[in-house]
Amino acid sequence: MTAVRPGDRSDSSAPALGGFTAGQLVKLCDLAGLEAADAEIYAHVLIDALGALAERPLDRPPPSDSFLSDDHTPVEFSLSFLPGTVPSLRLLLEPGCGAAGLRQNGRTGLRVIREMAQRWDFSTGRLDELEDLFFPSSAEGPFALWCALELRPGGVPKVKVYLNPAASGQERSARTVREALRRLGHEQAFATLPQADGYPFFALDLGDWDTPRAKVYLRHDDLSEADAGRLPRMSPGLGSAVVQGFFRTAAGLKSGDGPDARLGGRPVLSCHAFTETATGLPSGFTLHIPVRDYVRHDGEALARAVTALSHHGMDPSPLLGSLAAVTSRRPRDGVGLIAYLALTHQHGRPPRVTTYISSEAYAVRPPVVVLPHQVATVH
Ligand code: TRP
Repeated sequence: MTAVRPGDRSDSSAPALGGFTAGQLVKLCDLAGLEAADAEIYAHVLIDALGALAERPLDRPPPSDSFLSDDHTPVEFSLSFLPGTVPSLRLLLEPGCGAAGLRQNGRTGLRVIREMAQRWDFSTGRLDELEDLFFPSSAEGPFALWCALELRPGGVPKVKVYLNPAASGQERSARTVREALRRLGHEQAFATLPQADGYPFFALDLGDWDTPRAKVYLRHDDLSEADAGRLPRMSPGLGSAVVQGFFRTAAGLKSGDGPDARLGGRPVLSCHAFTETATGLPSGFTLHIPVRDYVRHDGEALARAVTALSHHGMDPSPLLGSLAAVTSRRPRDGVGLIAYLALTHQHGRPPRVTTYISSEAYAVRPPVVVLPHQVATVH
């Protein structure tokens, strides 16, 4: 249960976490071309997944120091763009946020996923096979379980589960990832991954997917544009020029910054998605740039997102609408509303650009005057 802390007083007129985030979601659904009836279903799905936390008034502090988002809101939105169509809307949430301890957090997360599986009639078999790896009795690390929902027309979402490779110890993360891949039949997958500084997430598609993926997220400290171009392991892949171009745009590199300019603040992540087991090679690649650490305010993040979207032939107007759907503040009056910009290549499909949108239910980070992490060129 939610621990009551000193200062946790609330006046009952304050909006509650569930109502606030569900209100944002309903507006975003409209931008993603979902009908009002679907929006209503998904608003209830969000409120159900938050459980008792949904009722928590926002004038109380966040239920935990969840690292799902910077202000500890246990909900984040994303819009994933493809050329020539409305973006798809996704929702990331931490069902166990507010539990007393990581173990309980994970238990609540598993229970919520299993309730979803019953409701939408999908199997949790792939998750069950990994339970001992990611849910040990004394779990460690920054989180236990997150869940992402892709909100399709029709009111039945596609479900993804995010697990913590450091659950059995940070030093065992690589082993945990390798073993999880092996159990899912991807024996050779681990050996194909590029060099990394950490393994922040392991993710699984559950439910109604054509080709369910197992995804490994890698952390890359001080990554340069040239390094980024070498990360994809797919064949055929995107080509390093496309990856490097996206890196330059999202990181805001100037013409004077050479290919060795490095992102020394919050690290870039790459994600490698495995579907088939024959070649051992991934069939999906994503580069995640934490744009919020490399801009002074969201006006700059928005400009970079618009450049990247336009470059890939995507209409940026739903992104503009999405910011207005979640907040009435101006982009330049804070930083962190656009948390990440990501470029995804899935085998046989055109590249996708994804923008991660914070809820800011609890706090807005003020704009910065000087960038905390100047892009550094190491000579
Ligand atoms: N807030 C965490 C981070 O910044 C986790 C996270 C939330 C994340 N949304 C994400 C990571 C999107 C990658 C992409 O790392």
